[in-house]
Order: sequence, then C-alpha cells, then structure tokens
Amino acid sequence: MTTRRPLIELHDVQKYYGDYHALRGITLDIEEGEFFSLLGPSGCGKTTLLRTIAGFEDVSSGVVLLDGQDMDRVPPNLRPTNMVFQSYAIFPHLTVGQNVGFGLRKSGKSKVEIAAAVDEALEMVGLKGYGARAAHALSGGQRQRVALARALILKPKVLLLDEPLSALDKKLREQMQSELRRLQRQVGITFILVTHDQEEALIMSDRIAVMFEGSIAQLDSPQQLYRRPVNRKVGDFIGVMNFLQARVLGQTGRMVSVDVEGLGHVDLDEEQCPGGVPEDEASIGIRPEMMSILFEGETTAKRIAEGQVTEVEYLGDMTYYDVKFDGVEKPLVISMKNLVGRKVLERGDRCRVTWDARSLVLFG
Ligand SMILES: Nc1ncnc2c1ncn2[C@@H]1O[C@H](COP(=O)(O)OP(=O)(O)O)[C@@H](O)[C@H]1O
Ligand SMILES: [Mg+2]
Repeated sequence: MTTRRPLIELHDVQKYYGDYHALRGITLDIEEGEFFSLLGPSGCGKTTLLRTIAGFEDVSSGVVLLDGQDMDRVPPNLRPTNMVFQSYAIFPHLTVGQNVGFGLRKSGKSKVEIAAAVDEALEMVGLKGYGARAAHALSGGQRQRVALARALILKPKVLLLDEPLSALDKKLREQMQSELRRLQRQVGITFILVTHDQEEALIMSDRIAVMFEGSIAQLDSPQQLYRRPVNRKVGDFIGVMNFLQARVLGQTGRMVSVDVEGLGHVDLDEEQCPGGVPEDEASIGIRPEMMSILFEGETTAKRIAEGQVTEVEYLGDMTYYDVKFDGVEKPLVISMKNLVGRKVLERGDRCRVTWDARSLVLFG
C-alpha cells in the first residue's frame, strides 16, 4: 500500500516576536489540491502562519515540511509556494502582460513562450485580451485578477492568499469568491486562504482551521464546523448561535441526558458533544434556522416551546425574530424563510416554536 504524504506538514510551530507569543504550537497537515482556509479574528496569527509557510518568517521552534522537505532556512524563492498579498503590489508603470510575466523574466524562457504563458494565465483569470493595457488603469477587481495571474503563471504547488478579497465591495467580493473556487478546481493547485470573514471561509474551503490567539481551536470541514463546533467560542464565531444554560444529568451508553433552560429534559447523542461530554454545568447551542415558529393552524409531533416576539428583522427572503421563551432570560434568534402565504409576525406577538433535539450541541 502506498500512503501519500500531505503536501504541507506543520508540527508544533511556535513563533515569538520578542516576548509576544504569536503562534502557540500549530500542528496541521494540508493535502495536495485542497482549498484550505485559516480563519480567525484580526491579530490571531493568520498572516504570521502564512508567512512562516512562505518562508518570510522564521519559526522560533517546530517543523515546516513542504512536499516532504524540511523548510528550515529555505528562503521563499526556493519554496514551492507563491503568495498573493492583500495589497496587490501591481507595478503601475507596466502593462498588464508585463506584470503577469514579471516572474518569468529570469526563467530562461523565450519571449514567445512567455507571451503564450501570459495569455494562458490571463485567460484563466478572465482577463483574456487585456495584456497590452496599462496596469494603472485597472479597477480593484481587475488588479486582483492580475495579481492572481502573476502568481499562477509560476505554477507553484501552493498558492498562499492573504485576505485577497477584503478590499473589494460586497458584490464583487462574492463574485470573486466563486471564481477563485472555480479556478482552484481547474488548476488543481493547493490554495491556502487567510480570511477573517467566516462566510467567505465556509463558501470556499474544503477545510478550515479556526484560530484564536495563536492556536487552532478547530480544524474541520465547513459543515462540521457549523454543525458541531467544539466550543462556544467557535460556535459563536461561525454564523449565529443561541446559547442556553444546561445541566448534565447523566450518561447511559452514548445517550447524554440534559436539563435545558426553557426546553426541559432532553436526551442527546454523544456526537452532539464535539468538545467532550461536560461534567454538570454546561450550555446548549442551537442555530437560528434549527428552530421554527409554528404559524396559525400548523401542528407538529416535535417538541414545542412558547414565547413572545421581542424584535423583528425583515430581510426580504428571510425574517429574523428575537423570541423570549417563557422561563428563559435572554431572547433567542430564530430565522424563518418568507414563503407565499406565510405572515410576518410583529413585536409583541405570542408564538409557538418547534425544535429538534438532534440540532442541539452541548458545550462544557
Ligand atoms: N513583525 C512583528 N513584530 C511584532 N509583532 C508582530 C509582528 N507581526 C505580527 N505581530 C503581532 O502578532 C500578532 C498576530 O499578527 P498577524 O499574524 O498579522 O494576525 P492576523 O493576520 O490574524 O490579523 C498580532 O498581535 C501582531 O501585532
Ligand atoms: Mg493578517
């Protein structure tokens, strides 16, 4: 049997800036062809980690292996990586084509070969025919594409992207997100994306490492991160999560019995305790879309809680309600699709809410 090595292997990577402990024991593997994201709030160490992979930062201790090779003291230009920076660093006095071909000047390739590679790279990023244009005349989105083409033309094994879309407005950012994902599938290069935008990470990634304060809190697929966060901090950072106080009553086999504020006695599967089964005092997490308001005439076999609408946020396709359950101190957020014939409730309305015990997550 042949077992392939991961393309990138980090083992217990530590980084100090003077006394400041910026990376606190990072261990992870990234497979060839993966779209991998580093996600976390500003200052948690994402850029530092990306730069240690690229070779722009030395590690204080720990091991970085790329393609099975120890990268200790290997400079950035001798690593199989290429970086696309947050500020695109386009040369404004050059043409688009000269910018894209810049890294190939010293490659020994002929002018004709370089021109063909530039055309191919421009086509990949949707800028076919832009080669002769002046780079300074491009829009933000086009500059980002040029920066991408300039990195892709070097055919790196790993493309490192540090918040490449953060300067773009919302519509363009969303468009570039799906284009970047399509491009990654097409070229098959491993992408490592740094972002503080949880939605962006969910949309684009095969796997995500969620970082806080120099450590990885959870490394998982988008679905697993969203459905089964290992602690409240991750649950709160990814999407919206409601929390209720809970008390663990006991465990029988895989079944964990819990008493939940406002919901009463609930039995959970061990799988719903991704951070481990807590001892006694605990909290329950539930996503807004995992609860449903029952409208007039609707019935259900599921459990029901009753409450009062305290706030309404109408978004067109969805409505977000704050609902204060009887016996629960803080209102919970519940999201409902706006369907034909479904009325939008108002502040002060009483409502019945159904929920499914399988959607609950238990935290210590
Ligand atoms: N060259 C440096 N010297 C000192 N501190 C730094 C340096 N680079 C980053 N830091 C600090 O390390 C922490 C992580 O920074 P960074 O990796 O840029 O975070 P992120 O990219 O997640 O926003 C921050 O507190 C930052 O101030
Ligand atoms: Mg950063």
